[in-house]
Amino acid sequence: MVFTKLITCSGPVNIAVIKYWGKRNEELILPSNSSLSATLNQKELKTVTSVMASESFSEDRIWLNKREEVITNPRLQIVLKAIRERYKQRKGCHDPLLNCKLHICSQNNFPTAAGLASSASGYATLVFAMGKLFDIPVGELSQIARLGSGSACRSMFGGWVKWEMGEAEDGRDCKAVQTHDECHWPDIRLLVLVVSDTPKETSSTSGMASTVKTSELFQHRVNHVVTKRLGLIEEAITQQNFPVFAQITMQESNQFHAVCLDTYPPIFYMNDVSKSIVDLVTQYNAFSREIKAAYTFDAGPNAVIYTLKESVAEITSLLLHFFPPSTQEGFLKGFSFQIDSDQGKLEALKAKVNVPRKVDALRYILLTSVGDGPRVLSEQEHLLSPVSGLPK
Ligand code: DP6
Repeated sequence: MVFTKLITCSGPVNIAVIKYWGKRNEELILPSNSSLSATLNQKELKTVTSVMASESFSEDRIWLNKREEVITNPRLQIVLKAIRERYKQRKGCHDPLLNCKLHICSQNNFPTAAGLASSASGYATLVFAMGKLFDIPVGELSQIARLGSGSACRSMFGGWVKWEMGEAEDGRDCKAVQTHDECHWPDIRLLVLVVSDTPKETSSTSGMASTVKTSELFQHRVNHVVTKRLGLIEEAITQQNFPVFAQITMQESNQFHAVCLDTYPPIFYMNDVSKSIVDLVTQYNAFSREIKAAYTFDAGPNAVIYTLKESVAEITSLLLHFFPPSTQEGFLKGFSFQIDSDQGKLEALKAKVNVPRKVDALRYILLTSVGDGPRVLSEQEHLLSPVSGLPK
């Protein structure tokens, strides 16, 4: 009998409010500062990954979004090796799983080129599935996911997740922990604004390496700013204090992009549409006389707006007015209700907000919420055929 084992899991995207940018050890992916993110609901955004081990496979292989890719990617190799090593330490060399090659098949339910953090959900889901296959304790998995892509370690849990930078040189105390579960602040919503643009030119990995080497503002940020903000935002989340949470979120995004500008040569991730979104949110908050929305940008022009359920319709109407699509079809994703907001108030807002109106500046707007961590899926959801071991 040929030994085989197949498992399929799904895993989420996360969006940081305290940003990870800069490593103190590139090889071990140890960050220069701790960070904090919300895990997004897998109903709207997720990666699904099947991993199959079989004694009949002749080599490790991987398929990403229906295309076979090279398995030699160094970070992928490090992750596969780390899992097999841990298994070997516990079970010895003669376990049948260690004689197996692996087939990995992974798919996102969102376009990879959309600039959403696909490497975070990708590595988190892969490591979670491998962890199940090789029976590795969940507590150890965030440290392995981190070796694939730093931010992936935060996608190993649902709710609000802190990636603790740790102090040890070997990274043994550098791990992700959940600070609050997904039910803690039920009214939080996220609007993901996918900007019509080509994908980023500078990868996070090379961008942050260049920042660490050249930016003095970065030194100031890690030595004097992040720890304080982390404490304040954790408290704001605990107390569900949206204005404080939102202000820190925006200041963090601003400082991250300022640090990119302070890098030599400078890195620009935000474009003109991103800047108009910053203006729109700022003027919306000023009009509301209260902070009701917070923008945040990662290593690309797309915006994520954190807000509360009660403000979603109003903000979406405003976005539809200033960034209208030429065709409505598929423009609003994840909305289970009609956008009808107070017309009088909307007219007043439109008159006050001063940003250039631009058709088709956004590819789509996706509404989502805070969700749970990686899950094991049923046999029906396998992406690999249990018979051939190839993508279905
Ligand atoms: C801007 O995790 O993609 O999204 O560890 O080099 O793979 P590597 O970088 P990555 O960096 C993401 C940075 C960020 C901010 C964040 O998510 O905290």
